[in-house]
Amino acid sequence: MTIAIDVHLPADQAAAMEQDVRRGLAATPKELSPKYFYDERGSRLFEDITELEEYYPTRRERQILEERSAEIVAAAGNPATLIELGSGSASKTRHLLDAMRDAGSLRTYVPVDSSEEITRETASALVEEYPGLDVHGLVCDFEAHLERTPTTSEAGPRLIAFLGGTIGNLYPDERAAFLCRIASLLDVDDHLLLGTDLVKDVGRLELAYDDPAGVTAEFNKNVLNVLNRELSGDFDLDAFAHVARFDLEHEWIDIGLHSLVDQDVHLGALDLTTRFAAGEMMRTEISTKFTRPRLEESYAGTGLSMAHWFTDPAEDYALSLARLA
Ligand code: TRP
Repeated sequence: MTIAIDVHLPADQAAAMEQDVRRGLAATPKELSPKYFYDERGSRLFEDITELEEYYPTRRERQILEERSAEIVAAAGNPATLIELGSGSASKTRHLLDAMRDAGSLRTYVPVDSSEEITRETASALVEEYPGLDVHGLVCDFEAHLERTPTTSEAGPRLIAFLGGTIGNLYPDERAAFLCRIASLLDVDDHLLLGTDLVKDVGRLELAYDDPAGVTAEFNKNVLNVLNRELSGDFDLDAFAHVARFDLEHEWIDIGLHSLVDQDVHLGALDLTTRFAAGEMMRTEISTKFTRPRLEESYAGTGLSMAHWFTDPAEDYALSLARLA
């Protein structure tokens, strides 16, 4: 049993954020990157979201993993290595690790996450729970440093898991580029396990992103607290409203903050004053919902193709296995 953690974070994260926010506020319509949601308070609020009755994706994904991990692991050819992108505390992942252990194939877990602290905690917990397991963690922005994930394994096939429906937060061109890069990491025996939320009744979709208790609104607005703190901003949280609408053409939830009044916002660190018109929407995230044909289409041309499709009985959510086309 060994633990190794490699850290590859940008030397100057503050500068990267400044550049990113400056670009987003200059765009029409304005847009903020979802990666700034998850400061300490944001991460806690997101945990609260996952426990809301209205927010079904986390629960459904966990249900599929609970009930079908043995099937998934067998379909993936009994992998020796599980590489998980966005691993966090790896709570759902344990079902996959259990199934790999039970199949006798489990050797190595590679958590890839942007938080060093969480990755270290998860690594120590897992080597305790799975005797003999090697954990080789990578702390990085997986969109930027995917190629650093270990790419060869003598021990047996590898399974790359990307759970939580996060692929849905990428635009179609970013999604295609991401899948191409995954394809470039895979060998013939390897698989990608991808979590995707599915298209369903619009009322249910919108409630999942706009709960009556207002937890989601608080989570969304918290990104303004992050900008106020990190970039010396003066966003007035009460002057913005949380909006989440299903866009039928793109089949994504369009999540944003709607300016309630004409207002100027100043960001000291950027030496920037930006004007919001009353009614103007600043996008904070898209969350794409898939159908099976749409996902198969997404794989087309990336070098991957879908091999298996697992859903919960209600068909709210899907995990798909893909391999080299
Ligand atoms: N990635 C999650 C999702 O698409 C994040 C999320 C849930 C979210 N609720 C939100 C992001 C509300 C912004 C606002 O489901």
